[in-house]
Amino acid sequence: MVHLSVAGIREMLESTGSVREDLFRQALRLKKEAAGEGIYLRGLIEFSNVCRKNCLYCGIRREGTRVGRYTLTDAQVLDAAQYAWRKGYGSVVLQAGEQVSEGFIARIERLVGEIGDLSNGELGITLSLGEQSAVTYRRWRKAGAHRYLLRIESSSPELYARIHPDDSRHCYEDRVRALESLRKEGYQVGTGVMIGLPGQTTSDLARDILFMKRLDIDMCGMGPYVECAGTPLAAYSEAQGGGTKEVLHERLEMTLNMIAVLRIVMPDINIAATTALQAIDAGGRLRAVECGANVVMPNLSPQEVRENYALYDNKPLALDSRILEQSVCYGERGDSQHFKKREKTAWNSGKYPK
Ligand code: 5AD
Ligand code: SF4
Repeated sequence: MVHLSVAGIREMLESTGSVREDLFRQALRLKKEAAGEGIYLRGLIEFSNVCRKNCLYCGIRREGTRVGRYTLTDAQVLDAAQYAWRKGYGSVVLQAGEQVSEGFIARIERLVGEIGDLSNGELGITLSLGEQSAVTYRRWRKAGAHRYLLRIESSSPELYARIHPDDSRHCYEDRVRALESLRKEGYQVGTGVMIGLPGQTTSDLARDILFMKRLDIDMCGMGPYVECAGTPLAAYSEAQGGGTKEVLHERLEMTLNMIAVLRIVMPDINIAATTALQAIDAGGRLRAVECGANVVMPNLSPQEVRENYALYDNKPLALDSRILEQSVCYGERGDSQHFKKREKTAWNSGKYPK
């Protein structure tokens, strides 16, 4: 029985010992029943680290000076997509810092179309390109993208405000509106949060789970907060005792709890074992797969730009190959079962003309 109250979820998040082991077992069982036995791969293409935002935690924020800025060429993007296609990865994710110029929008539109063409429309295409207008989301959807990742970062408006600059580009309500607009445009919608942010409580995390349930999301990617040297939030967090090995490990363990609890609350969604887990522990992503995650995103960005997409410290540059020894589903897009069910219901209830 799932208790959908802040207190009930908090209790699950705080479980230890054999109760926690039972929770993980239950999550793994539910994953297999509702989301399938296997793990789905998404080849991650980090298209550009240029960003108009200035999130206080992020290494590629606008004012960050420690990374060289880059944007991949069309050929580099298409090569990576071709690689994913040849290797039988079901999908690719095109990710970049937030850019809103018409040149950028049109380029993504074209590249999405070309990735579709090179795979006979079979390769799944996920975008992770920040907040955009409904018109832009529609253009990219029409071009062939069908999933979108936009993390809420924290569902608490107060905490959101503390980790972002206080200006109109970093507005909590706009972010929620963007998520709603993605749903309206027909995407499979993914969101997620960071775990272990300074001042974040387990009640906040319980509310994050309830937020995802309320938005009825199809996919989730969440990971531990990892201090990134040179960012304002890292300086603040380190002054509060954050960033030590011990604290990072606590965040990793709490992220696993969040994955297991989310799986129990929303059994049929796709949940990613995120890269940040592996920044803390070499086996981090593997452990996530063992307690409810069913998606991993091997990095396909060209080697020479990888170190510049440094969102946080110690970001691993390659996947723990032990994950590929799991039952990986090759040649399948691995769409969210949750999305498929919702679409079927909408179809039957006459949302679409027959
Ligand atoms: N620690 C962990 N995750 C981070 N991200 C950005 N900076 C950090 C950090 N320091 C995550 C955000 C963003 C995603 C692309 O990377 O959640 O949505
Ligand atoms: Fe830009 Fe995303 Fe980093 Fe924020 S988290 S600064 S939007 S890349």
